[in-house]
Amino acid sequence: MTATASSASTETFSRADWLRGYESQTEERDYWIDDIEGEIPAELEGTVFRNGPGLLEIGGQSLHHPFDGDGMISAIAIRQGRAYFRNRYVRTEGFLAEQKAGKILYRGVFGTQKPGGWLANIFDLGLKNIANTNILYWGDRLLALWEAAEPHRLDPQTLETFGLDRLDGLLADGDPFSAHPRIDPGSERTGGQRRLVNFAVKTGPSSRIRLYEFDESGRCVEQQERVIPGFAFLHDFALTPNYAIFFQNPIRFNPLPALLGQRTAGQCLASDRNKSTQILVIPRDPKAPLQTFETESCFVFHHANAFETADGAIVVDSVCYDEFPMLEPDRNFKEVDFDSYPRGELFRFTLHPGQPRAERKLLESRTCEFPTQHPRTVGQDARYYYIGAAAAPTGNAPLQSLLKIDLETGDRKLWTVAPRGFIGEPLFVPRPGGIAEDDGWVLSLIYDAARHSSALVILSAQTLEPLARLNLKQHIPYGLHGCFTPQYFGPED
Ligand SMILES: [Fe+2]
Repeated sequence: MTATASSASTETFSRADWLRGYESQTEERDYWIDDIEGEIPAELEGTVFRNGPGLLEIGGQSLHHPFDGDGMISAIAIRQGRAYFRNRYVRTEGFLAEQKAGKILYRGVFGTQKPGGWLANIFDLGLKNIANTNILYWGDRLLALWEAAEPHRLDPQTLETFGLDRLDGLLADGDPFSAHPRIDPGSERTGGQRRLVNFAVKTGPSSRIRLYEFDESGRCVEQQERVIPGFAFLHDFALTPNYAIFFQNPIRFNPLPALLGQRTAGQCLASDRNKSTQILVIPRDPKAPLQTFETESCFVFHHANAFETADGAIVVDSVCYDEFPMLEPDRNFKEVDFDSYPRGELFRFTLHPGQPRAERKLLESRTCEFPTQHPRTVGQDARYYYIGAAAAPTGNAPLQSLLKIDLETGDRKLWTVAPRGFIGEPLFVPRPGGIAEDDGWVLSLIYDAARHSSALVILSAQTLEPLARLNLKQHIPYGLHGCFTPQYFGPED
């Protein structure tokens, strides 16, 4: 492995630095963060929860894909200018069994096979619920989410794992529950009350999409199911006051190599670039019919937002890749060639009533992922997005910057931690009592290769100036998603 930079990145990072952020973190710790640069805003109070793969090898065997890594939760509780850090693995059945055995016992969905070649993997379709994708605090429950199976519930104070949570009997044994819930800030439909909306998909030759809506207490108040033709790989959705919007990516799934132990399930997915992407608009009113639109072939993991216009159109903003960023069985994620790998760009799709084809417009061509916004503007015509971005304006590279996009003026603000820093999903936290849409802070957990440790950065959302940097005593491997709750879950003293 060399430490030369990728040419597409215009030398904004070294591959050796980037790879160190994928080293496993085996230590679980609790401490007051005593290395703080700048000052934590006095009004900022609450807890940041992050989730992501913490173990990238087991028993000396490297995982083939980071998405197969066991979920590790980090919590940073902030109050009165101080912050307390804690990290814990989710004690899933698979994590406990593999730690005890000291070796890989399960095949990963994305790329990791059990040792022993195809013979050890043939006909083994058992799933390991790795609880590594998102962490949600809603209705007094802290839930680690992984889309293909049930959530795990944890203690928000100690991060101790309580076990699987089937949501008061809503989910059956092994039922999926997406890792991408959306919070409706409240509309006429919900009587002005906030709602958590999430989905679950069971796929095959046709696919069943189940939509759940929960009130503030965590009680499921509405649910419905729609059946759509074809295989559906749905990771995320967008929400408006009246619709849930899904992008059915043009993906083929041939399960035979997985059955035969030659490939993992994720390696059996392939883009079908001759097919268009289907945009499914599911009314939250279960009696109203589903509408389908189409657009150019593309692949979407994450949506930024969606809203309804006065003339009946629906606008959806999404991070699109030309095709599914697939990994071949003979290529480890560490060897990825950024120059030839699909990269995310932000597009706006407008769905006009009566027109089957969506209107598509590029909003941001810089490589970007993990969009977020003020929670009040979810499902509304938001003015600002905050998104992880590459440091260079062109080419594909890891996320090393935060980009603020002003959709009204077209203005951009960029804050970068290149060349030795790498950035995680931003979270927007509104300032208590603030009125302006960007009155608040942007929080992100960064990995700093120069120190081989991570830090929580707190930026002014208006200017993207850093206000505080909370240096941790260890590194947190690159994470996926998380949340902020205004509740403080740190020690009392
Ligand atoms: Fe995601």
